[in-house]
Amino acid sequence: WMPAAALATAANHNVKQISVIGAGLMGAGIAQVAAHQAAVRVQLVDTSQAHLQKGESIILASLKRIFKKKSADAADAARQTDEVMARITLSTSTEQSAASSDVLVEAIVENLEAKRRLFRQLDAAAPAHAIFASNTSSLPIADIAAAVSATRRAQFAGLHFFNPVPQMKLVEVIRIGETQPQVFETLLALTKAMGKVPVSCKDTPGFIVNRLLVPYMFEALRLVERGDATKEDVDTAMKLGAGYPMGPFELMDYVGLDTTKFINDGWYQSGKGLQGSKLTEPSPLLDQLVADGKFGRKSGEGFYAYGGVGASTKK
Ligand code: NAI
Repeated sequence: WMPAAALATAANHNVKQISVIGAGLMGAGIAQVAAHQAAVRVQLVDTSQAHLQKGESIILASLKRIFKKKSADAADAARQTDEVMARITLSTSTEQSAASSDVLVEAIVENLEAKRRLFRQLDAAAPAHAIFASNTSSLPIADIAAAVSATRRAQFAGLHFFNPVPQMKLVEVIRIGETQPQVFETLLALTKAMGKVPVSCKDTPGFIVNRLLVPYMFEALRLVERGDATKEDVDTAMKLGAGYPMGPFELMDYVGLDTTKFINDGWYQSGKGLQGSKLTEPSPLLDQLVADGKFGRKSGEGFYAYGGVGASTKK
C-alpha cells in the first residue's frame, strides 16, 4: 500500500452516481459535497419524507451560504444553488436508488445491526461493480462488511467524514483485509474530487483521529476529576500552549458528550483492541452530565452553558 496522498488524482474516479443512505447531519453533508464539488449525481435516501426534507434543507441552507459568499449577484448565486440541487434526488427506496449507483455511502444510525441489515439489502439490489462504504465513527468496518457476500467485501471500505462535512477537509479511507486496491483508489479519487484530503488506515479502533482524540479527551477529564486543574484552564492551556483551535472540553461540547461517551464505552466494553487499556476507563464526570441530559452545544449545556439550544457562542 502507498500513502493515500501519493495515489489517485481527482479526475480518475469514474463515478457517475452515488447513493447516500441516511439524510441526517452527516449524510446531508456528504450528499452536498458529492453533488457540488465532485459534480456527481446523488440519490439521498432515508426512511421518511420528513427525514429527507430535513436533509434537503440542511443542504440548501449550506449551499446558499457558500454561493452568497462567492457571488455578489443574488440571481447568479440562486442559479448555482439550483444547479447543485438538481443533481440530488431524494428517495425512500433503498433498493431503487442502489440499483443505479456506482458508490453507496452509508450514514445511518450508529448501530451495528441496523447497518448490517441495510448492507444486506444493498448487496442484493446494487450492481456487481458498486462500491460500498460506511461512515461509521466507532464500529469496526469488518464487522459491518460481514453482512455482505465475499465478492462485495472486496469492494467494501470505510469512508469517515468529519462534522461539519462541507467545512472539514479530512476523510479517513479505511481498508479491511479484503478491500481491493482499485476500489481503494476510486474512493481516494472520489474524495479528492469532493474537495477533501484523504488519508488511509487499516480497520483499527477509532481509525486515526478518534484513536488519538478520545484518549486525549479522557485524560483531560481525569485531570479535572482529580482536581489538578479547572476545565477552563485546561482549555486555555491547550489552545495557547498546543495551538489547538478548541480546548478538550469545548471540543467535547461541540462533538456531543453522548457521542464521546458512546465511542469510549464501545471500546471499553467490546474487547476490540482497546479493552483493558487505562486510556478508555469511563469518566464519572462525563457519565453524570450525559445522565442529566447535558450533551453539549446541541442541548444548550455540557461542560459550558450556551445561549439557546445549538447557539454558536459560548456564554
Ligand atoms: P443522524 O441521526 O443525524 O442521521 C441519521 C439518519 O439516518 C437519520 O435521518 C435517520 O432517519 C436515517 N436512518 C436511520 N436508519 C435508516 C435506514 N435503515 N435507512 C435509511 N435511513 C436511515 O446521524 P449522523 O450524526 O448524521 O451520523 C450518521 C453516521 O455517521 C453514524 O454512523 C455516525 O457514527 C457517523 N458519524 C457521525 C459524525 C458526527 O459528528 N455526527 C462524524 C462522523 C461520522
